[in-house]
Amino acid sequence: MPSSRVAVVTGAARGLGQEFAVALAGLGHRVAGWDVENQAETSARVVAAGGEFLPVTVDVTHPVAVEAAVEQVVASFGGLHIVVNNAGIYPPIAFEETTVDDWRDVMRLNLEGPFLVTRAALPHLRAAGWGRIVNIVSAVVFLGPPELVAYTTSKAGLVGFTRALANAVGPDGITVNAIAPGLVTTATATRTTGAGGGFERVRASQAVPRTGSPADLVSTLRYVCDEGSGFLTGQTLNVDGGSAFR
Ligand SMILES: NC(=O)c1ccc[n+]([C@@H]2O[C@H](COP(=O)([O-])OP(=O)(O)OC[C@H]3O[C@@H](n4cnc5c(N)ncnc54)[C@H](O)[C@@H]3O)[C@@H](O)[C@H]2O)c1
Repeated sequence: MPSSRVAVVTGAARGLGQEFAVALAGLGHRVAGWDVENQAETSARVVAAGGEFLPVTVDVTHPVAVEAAVEQVVASFGGLHIVVNNAGIYPPIAFEETTVDDWRDVMRLNLEGPFLVTRAALPHLRAAGWGRIVNIVSAVVFLGPPELVAYTTSKAGLVGFTRALANAVGPDGITVNAIAPGLVTTATATRTTGAGGGFERVRASQAVPRTGSPADLVSTLRYVCDEGSGFLTGQTLNVDGGSAFR
């Protein structure tokens, strides 16, 4: 069984996606980062660590662009095995003030994006007879914060996607798991959910009394992508410092 795989990480320009791309490259996998933004920083980190990185500019909510991005990865790296559906938005907004456009924006990126990316990638994972699909959800699915109703709904949908898809692709040697991070110090979280005492409030609810960082998610990603984790599927792994016990 070869240990070098080809991985796609969506939303790899910064934050958790950047950390995941660097981590997978560190394991010897060839990594394509998909983002609408410039990925020079991610590229530099991967290359500095001796890895291979292909930046692809693509909006994961556009079906045709997503299909083309898959073909670009396969043409460059010769296959595709690992998909990390990470790109997402989590705008705090009072439920009564949520417009239809707000609601659809969240659903489109957080739920439809993983559907489009996974559907386009799947034939290549099936052809390889091996695959790891990892959906980045959130600890909010267990906690239900009031200012994140649309976001929580989208991520709970992604948990359902994870479970049903695990059954659909299990016979092909492909696992599907979700990782649910607690609040961690990405630039976006620091500007939004973590602002105004958010980090302190979340920290007070955790068994581990410190604020999480993107690096805290890396070992779980490695675990679900491991060659030896083929019997682990359909699960949601909550990595939140122990604020919700599931
Ligand atoms: N940061 C946290 O505390 C936290 C906690 C739980 C879950 N999460 C989840 O982790 C994921 C990453 O969060 P983050 O804090 O690193 O976010 P981030 O804002 O730092 O990064 C998101 C990335 O996705 C990219 N992106 C946005 N729209 C896109 C599109 N249409 N197509 C392609 N790429 C697009 C952005 O350009 C950005 O690089 C999200 O799914 C988020 O819901 C984050």
